[in-house]
Amino acid sequence: METLTKQTITALLDAAQEVRENSYSPYSHFKVGAAVLTPDGKIFCGTNVENSSYGLTVCAERNAMFAAAGAGYRRFKALALITQKLPGQKFNSPCGACRQVMSEFMDAKTPVFIAVLNGKKRVVYRKTLGELMPFPFDKFSAK
Ligand code: THU
Repeated sequence: METLTKQTITALLDAAQEVRENSYSPYSHFKVGAAVLTPDGKIFCGTNVENSSYGLTVCAERNAMFAAAGAGYRRFKALALITQKLPGQKFNSPCGACRQVMSEFMDAKTPVFIAVLNGKKRVVYRKTLGELMPFPFDKFSAK
């Protein structure tokens, strides 16, 4: 698999961190920013957007992926997300719904960068989608 440069990874993380400021999260007060990288090097971003009808909330990761999909992209080379450090937690990994949507557009080997903001310090963990979502639903491979 093609390796991403440090510069590209930093740009993706910076984009996720910047858009996180736009998070609409008046109920949880938990801001999440996400960014996806397209094969031609474009970055699409999203934040979590909450609703007073709580269940209508959409996560940052899905909003980033849907922005890219809506612009015509179908494959992503990487996804980054960033949250604040919560006491007692190393990092916050993406929810199951977002992992399933990632599986639609990303291969098992695709890197997912999970960043945590501790004050101004950013700590980044690298996982693959395959590690996060080993058995996605896929109707085309269902027996
Ligand atoms: N959230 C995300 O944006 N991404 C995730 O992977 C998990 C949770 C959001 C949803 C809600 O606005 C807030 O974080 C607290 O759950």
